[in-house]
Amino acid sequence: MKNWEYLTDKAFEARKHAYAPYSGFQVGACVELKDGSFLPGANIENAAYGSTMCAERNAVFGAYVRGYRKEDIKALAIVTEAERISTPCGACRQVLSELLLPDTPIVLCNRKETVVTTISELLPGAFGAEDLKK
Ligand code: THU
Repeated sequence: MKNWEYLTDKAFEARKHAYAPYSGFQVGACVELKDGSFLPGANIENAAYGSTMCAERNAVFGAYVRGYRKEDIKALAIVTEAERISTPCGACRQVLSELLLPDTPIVLCNRKETVVTTISELLPGAFGAEDLKK
């Protein structure tokens, strides 16, 4: 298997900037772009809990606000230090199904283990833009 450490290391670095005073659960993320650049993300919580934003959405939104689109994204890493590898929440899967290509590698890591998946594996049959056509 490909060694993803160069990317998970950057996601662990981003994790240091998580703001998670309520859950105490810090998540880091990093988007790797085809032009060779990297964009970090971390979860940012809020006292109004529902206003929290997940690490992976922050990272991918960061790419989009800079003008990148799904074709420009090479991989996305999402990391925690949990016992069990964390997979993206339902809301993130919905967003990733629109903002990543179906087969873009999503690299999940908890320091002990690394698993590589894709959004088509994580959210088969996703609702999307096509479904809005009348
Ligand atoms: N969280 C993420 O940032 N990404 C995930 O994939 C799972 C959950 C955050 C949201 C919240 O700040 C904390 O982890 C606990 O749910």
